[in-house]
Amino acid sequence: MIYIIPVVAAYLIGSLSFSFIIGRLVKGIDIRKHGSGNAGATNTLRVLGKGPAILVLALDVVKAIQAVWIGKWMAPDDVWVQVACGLAVIIGHNWPVFFGFRGGKGVATAIGVTATLCFLPALFAGIIAIGSIVITRYVSLGSLLFTALLPFFVWGMGRPLEILWGVIIIGLFTFIRHRTNISKLVQGRESKIGSKNL
Ligand code: G3P
Repeated sequence: MIYIIPVVAAYLIGSLSFSFIIGRLVKGIDIRKHGSGNAGATNTLRVLGKGPAILVLALDVVKAIQAVWIGKWMAPDDVWVQVACGLAVIIGHNWPVFFGFRGGKGVATAIGVTATLCFLPALFAGIIAIGSIVITRYVSLGSLLFTALLPFFVWGMGRPLEILWGVIIIGLFTFIRHRTNISKLVQGRESKIGSKNL
C-alpha cells in the first residue's frame, strides 16, 4: 500500500508539461493551440524552434528518469513498483492533472523510462528509430517504431517479465496517442521534420 506514494509522485512529476510551460514562458502561447496541437518536443520544434525543443525533450526525459528512480529508491527489489512508476509518469505526461488532462504522446517520457529500466533494449530500439527518422523524416514513425520494437529487444535480451509487460503497455499508450499520426502516415499526409509544415 505504501507503494501508492511513489506511483502518485511519478504521476504528478509526469503532469509537469514542459512544452506547455516553455511555450508560455518563451512566447506566451498554449502549445496545444498551435501546430499539431500536441504538448511535446516535436510540436515545440515546429512552433518554437530548435532551442526550446531540445530543452523540452531533455526535461521530459529527465522527469521520466526521476520518476523511475523514485520507484527504485522506495522499492529497490520490486520491479513492479518501478514499472508502475514508469507507466505513471507517462500517464501524467499524456493526461496531466495540472493542464486539464490534455498533454503529449509520451515518447520522450518513454525514452526516459526505458533508458532507466532497460538501457540496452532502449538503446537498440532507439538507434533503429533514429535511423528511420533520418531516412523518412517522420518523427511519429520513429516514435512508433521505437515502442513497437522495445518488447522484442526486452524479451530477446532476457529482461524481467515485469519490464516486458511495462514496455508492451507503453507501446499500447504510444499507438493510442498516435492514432491521428498513423492515419496521416497511411494517407501520406504526415508532416516531415525539416519541411515547411513540419
Ligand atoms: O512524439 C510525438 C511525435 O511522435 C509526433 O508529434 O506533434 O507530430 O504529432 P506530432
